[in-house]
Amino acid sequence: MVDQGRQWRPEQFGLRALELADELVAIRRRLHEHPELSFQEAETAAFVAERLEGLGWRVRMGVGGGHGVIAELEGRSGGRLIALRADMDALPIQEETGLSFSSARPGVMHACGHDAHTAMLLGAAQLLAEAHAEQALHGTVRLLFQCAEEVGLGAQVLIDHGALDGVDEIYGLHNLPTLPAGRVGVRPGPMMGSSDLIAIDIEGKGGHGAVPDQCVDPIVAGTAVVSALQTIASREVSPFEPVVVTIGSFHAGSVGNIVPGSAELQGTVRTFSPAVRGRLPARLQLLVADVAAAHRCKGTLRYMERTPVLINDEACTAAFADLASAILGTEQVVRGEATMIGEDFARYLELVPGCFFWLGSGPEQGAEQAYGLHHPKLQINESCLPIGASLLASVAFERVCKEV
Ligand code: NI
Repeated sequence: MVDQGRQWRPEQFGLRALELADELVAIRRRLHEHPELSFQEAETAAFVAERLEGLGWRVRMGVGGGHGVIAELEGRSGGRLIALRADMDALPIQEETGLSFSSARPGVMHACGHDAHTAMLLGAAQLLAEAHAEQALHGTVRLLFQCAEEVGLGAQVLIDHGALDGVDEIYGLHNLPTLPAGRVGVRPGPMMGSSDLIAIDIEGKGGHGAVPDQCVDPIVAGTAVVSALQTIASREVSPFEPVVVTIGSFHAGSVGNIVPGSAELQGTVRTFSPAVRGRLPARLQLLVADVAAAHRCKGTLRYMERTPVLINDEACTAAFADLASAILGTEQVVRGEATMIGEDFARYLELVPGCFFWLGSGPEQGAEQAYGLHHPKLQINESCLPIGASLLASVAFERVCKEV
């Protein structure tokens, strides 16, 4: 008989997670102190795998030759397969928090809170193992501990090696320090922008800076190109469709009195709609080539697709919001902010339905002033750890047995 006091309703996941809070904090601090960059997450992966094996999960390490870890807990046959994902990598940033458990590795920091994400999914693994021991899962849960999110490549590595095979739905979260801990931001449809890279070469003809008529100046052409690119957002796409074109790097020349022979520019392109994203490469190519030509230069653009628009499934998002309300109270579940920041969880959502949500990780008062993600002073309100663990565990537990 199942213990009547432990029915593993969403609320019970929340209560049990609170009992694990100290342990989750210890895990998160341990990971925080030993951050690893993208594709170098060997120690983190080994720690994760050992813990999962101890909890009775079937574990696959070194997925795709990288450091991805995939684990499964198999329940009754004939059920559904629900995946949960956490990312594990850190950033090339020198930590400035002054915390007692600051990064022990100079120039490397968990400045996006992936240490917290990993700790939360390990917490969910424990909750699910305990629930399964008392009341067998109605299906199978698969955990994806992903490498290399910060470089936008890890999700594809896992997908290429079977991470989504047989998966019915997938769920994941990102902490948000500008949202108070205890709150969750949920948004159906597009939530995070596509994130692509562009590289532009402008070729002119170098010469003495005093005789511009004998040169073809790639700097003047390049600045015209930068200005022209801004008309994509302002003149070519509906004002109701957000687009960002940012040139973050412009390199040309060496001294003040020489016209250089060429200029190299790099940038990023963000959109919020797959249709708009699809139109942009051709338009950007044309603008670069023609504006450069108008200045007698040759302009070429390379468009490198990276991360698609992150689009949450309506039904999965509604189901998750219901569960979050049951655990945290309806007033704590708010509409999630949209952002042009990219997240490679979008790749999973291109292939299977699911929901990615914001988990508040900021102070209870004044969260809007908190240091943001990727900041060297980023701090996480660790009271979000048991909350994230319980949300992930309960959504998997409920959705494996959803009648379809
Ligand atoms: Ni992140």
